[in-house]
Amino acid sequence: MAKTTAKNAPATAAAPVASASKKAASSKDNSAANGQTGPSVQPILNQQFNAPAPLQKYGTVSQRLPIGLDANIRQESVEMLNQMLADTCSIRDMYKKHHWQVVGPTFYQLHLLFDKHYEEQDALIDMIAERIQILGGVAVAMAADIAEVTSIPRPPRDREEAPVQVSRLLEAHQIILKNCHDFAKRADESGDDGTNDLIVSNVMRTNEMQVWFVSEHVVDTPLARAE
Ligand SMILES: [Fe+2]
Repeated sequence: MAKTTAKNAPATAAAPVASASKKAASSKDNSAANGQTGPSVQPILNQQFNAPAPLQKYGTVSQRLPIGLDANIRQESVEMLNQMLADTCSIRDMYKKHHWQVVGPTFYQLHLLFDKHYEEQDALIDMIAERIQILGGVAVAMAADIAEVTSIPRPPRDREEAPVQVSRLLEAHQIILKNCHDFAKRADESGDDGTNDLIVSNVMRTNEMQVWFVSEHVVDTPLARAE
């Protein structure tokens, strides 16, 4: 089937055609003013100030993609995944904060480990957000919105000791992992196998592995002489 584009679309509506001609005339005026003879390369700026309604409201779910899931199933999965996305953004950023601010004899190990975990959480964020879009939802994205949605407690801006940093991370991991078990079960029961797989295979496994690596840094063992 031929794709309908702006170039080959039938001119059935008078208003858009008139509007297009007006834009073309305006573009020519600008080109002339700039001493140009060809098409204008002037970007059209500040379109956010008079934009019409958004394409899709946050919190709604569209049925655009035929993926074999009913609207109510998509809605439930999108709500769960947006919570998981906000929490994952929070722990990702906490890892970067601690990567920058860590001090002490374990600096090198923790500095590198925290950044590795940051990268892994960042990869999860993209997987979760894109799953939300595939389901027809709208992924939460900006820091201010993440702050409102996440259930992970906000750490202070201050620099903290390494064991305190680790304890905060472990608390955040546990919040995410408890949700993983709950959300994976609900996705399985509703028949959203893709969401169940993402939560178990990616989010849960990654968080469990990170808990192991981080926890070992707060085990109080002798460093040089066995006690
Ligand atoms: Fe760095």
